[in-house]
Amino acid sequence: LDNGVGQTPPMGWNSWNHFQCDISEALIKETADAMVSTGLADLGYQYINIDDCWAELNRDSKGYMVAKSSTFPSGMKALADYVHSKGLKLGIYSDAGNQTCSKRMPGSLGHEEQDAKTFASWGIDYLKYDNCENNDVTPKERYPRMGEALVQSGRPIFYSLCEWGAEDPSIWGKSVGNSWRTTSDIEDKWDSMISCADQNNKWASYAGPGGWNDPDMLEVGNGGMTTEEYRAHFSIWALVKAPLLIGCDIRALDDITKELLRNSEVIAVNQDKLGIQGKKVKSNDDLEVWAGPLSDNRLAVVLWNRSSSKAIVTASWSDLGLKPGTSIDARDLWEHSTQSKVSGDISAELDSHACKMYILTPN
Ligand code: DGJ
Repeated sequence: LDNGVGQTPPMGWNSWNHFQCDISEALIKETADAMVSTGLADLGYQYINIDDCWAELNRDSKGYMVAKSSTFPSGMKALADYVHSKGLKLGIYSDAGNQTCSKRMPGSLGHEEQDAKTFASWGIDYLKYDNCENNDVTPKERYPRMGEALVQSGRPIFYSLCEWGAEDPSIWGKSVGNSWRTTSDIEDKWDSMISCADQNNKWASYAGPGGWNDPDMLEVGNGGMTTEEYRAHFSIWALVKAPLLIGCDIRALDDITKELLRNSEVIAVNQDKLGIQGKKVKSNDDLEVWAGPLSDNRLAVVLWNRSSSKAIVTASWSDLGLKPGTSIDARDLWEHSTQSKVSGDISAELDSHACKMYILTPN
């Protein structure tokens, strides 16, 4: 969407994966505080995004959506002011249908202008727009209206389409939204995570500054995967220029989760100014190489063992599109060490489900 936002993939937090409908004003404020105190804000995580269940079941007598008084008693304007005072941005959620998926609050179908103006007047910076209760009308007919209404509101609001990959991004993508979901909902499980990665991979050529493929939010830190699986989840999401929206409780981060989410070298791959989505370039019995170009003639590479036993994963220069004999420096983004003047393959012995991530810089 041509609204000036989303020049790099959005980074922040969203309430859904960890809290579902169990959200409140206190949670959002504490999360904003934690974003700053943990150092995540300084690394670029800026959006604090409220998902489903924030509003009263019914609109008021003038048709306005209202924050649920039992859980958000001070209202959304005050909350946005608080989040902005921390140097962060506030995101909210609605649905291109009659109700949201929880059925606990209204959707915005038929109220697009009114709701977009309301969100803008509260100081909202990001809208996630879900796809439930949609009268079986196609996303293509329902989603552009809210995009236009957001632009009309005069406030730059990141527009995140949550249409679960129901529409082929080639026919709308960037002209309508700043990101669009390419998958159904992620679960905090290995199988779900790799399936999201693979589905999203198909649409790589449609991503770029201003409009990103969205394989759904991060599960890192929620407990359902091993450390190495979470490391791979974060590495691949970074490489494919996915939104980096943390989905765990950042008020209580353990050391491993901090190490993963705060790796500034991996984040820099995600935020690279070229904005080219990395892709799967080789898959051999679940031994995979994913790679993509970065600015200044560099390459980002992930070697990934998706098999169930220990194995050696190798990327040859031809897998990576490098001329034979090209000499590079290979920076290992998780070990934080550099191998100089490599001119053959790069390979690593990896435990089941583990990965290595590199930036290759030609000499
Ligand atoms: C479906 C979306 O895909 C999820 O991310 C979440 O927003 C839920 N709906 C909320 O009901």
